[in-house]
Amino acid sequence: MEQIKQGGTIAVTGSAGFIGGWVVSLLLDRGYRVRACVRDVDDTKKTGFLKAMPGYASGRLTLHSADLDKAGCFDDIFKGCHGLVHTSHVSNYTDQNYVQGVCDHIINSINLSGTIEKVVVTSSIAAVIGETDIQELVRRPICNEDRFPDEKNPNRSAKGGQGYSMGKILLERSFSDAAKSSDRWNSITCCPGDNVGPILSAHQKEVGPWQHNIETMLLGQYTENVIGAYRPWWTVDVRDTAEAHIRLLENTDLKNGQRLIAWSTESREVEEVCASINRLLPELAFAGAEKVDPFPEQIKERKAEFRAAWRGCQLRNDRIKSVLGMSFRSIDISIRDCVESLLSVGGVQPKTKSDRKRL
Ligand SMILES: NC(=O)c1ccc[n+]([C@@H]2O[C@H](COP(=O)([O-])OP(=O)(O)OC[C@H]3O[C@@H](n4cnc5c(N)ncnc54)[C@H](OP(=O)(O)O)[C@@H]3O)[C@@H](O)[C@H]2O)c1
Repeated sequence: MEQIKQGGTIAVTGSAGFIGGWVVSLLLDRGYRVRACVRDVDDTKKTGFLKAMPGYASGRLTLHSADLDKAGCFDDIFKGCHGLVHTSHVSNYTDQNYVQGVCDHIINSINLSGTIEKVVVTSSIAAVIGETDIQELVRRPICNEDRFPDEKNPNRSAKGGQGYSMGKILLERSFSDAAKSSDRWNSITCCPGDNVGPILSAHQKEVGPWQHNIETMLLGQYTENVIGAYRPWWTVDVRDTAEAHIRLLENTDLKNGQRLIAWSTESREVEEVCASINRLLPELAFAGAEKVDPFPEQIKERKAEFRAAWRGCQLRNDRIKSVLGMSFRSIDISIRDCVESLLSVGGVQPKTKSDRKRL
């Protein structure tokens, strides 16, 4: 596989997002030209932080409106690009025909571009561990790139809660199959863990879901139910996720269709995440927060079973470390920097102990 052109032009979908924003920022740092694709360029709340980047002032960074729900939206944007980082979410994961349609039109734009040679798609660990039956994780606890959820389980369905996991696998396969039948481009997948770390724009505190849950902790109440019943946080720093995407773009050894998981392999229960805030930032005098558990009784009764299954999982990141030379920030750094950005960028006013004194 050819090396992506030094200083070449890279399109990034989902650029206003948490991961996409960091991908844009790091690509600029590396000297690339970037076409940042956002839903609406004029939505200043979401795009202001991109327009404030120095590369935008010079023109090395350009912004482009593209609504994924409109086929052909990338036709003009991709022309002349050398690479694509496709981080965007889609509008709806419960309709797999819709997800397929979005993949198909993006692939069509890549083929029409005449220039794109390398595509990195953002999948998720949901495409690794998103099981319908929690006991499947007990039977197959090694969580590495070779693991896929049990796709033969008859209860696995998009409407039954597995739409995200199924949609991500569909994304991975659609892109690698299309790339295989093209003689020009390759597709590689990144499966990130739970992204924590600094937000770049205030609107990013509302999404996440991880940084949003930390925001709610700071405000005094957070939920047990971030994702997956009673699953601990299996984090990756958002800056490391972005770095992994760029290393994947630049790597010439990986073959079309390969996937790498990006996560620190550290694990932390949600209440420990909340407790970490005071330990890491005692100066904040954070008052702590109440946890609410919104699960129905039949799930609550199985809490010990869920927690034991998650605890037995063996998270692996040796492949990404050896192939890309990655190292990962610790969860403490990710939480600390997330909190500080929520205050300084997001304007969050944390609940503090009444005796808090600022020096
Ligand atoms: N965050 C995590 O922990 C995590 C973990 C694993 C995988 N991922 C994957 O990483 C990717 C980025 O996640 P993120 O956390 O950065 O999400 P995010 O902050 O919500 O960003 C996603 C972006 O996708 C855009 N988007 C969604 N539907 C669109 C549409 N129809 N047309 C145009 N743009 C659209 C959103 O634009 P609007 O704001 O205008 O809707 C948003 O800017 C996703 O594919 C996600 O599945 C994330």
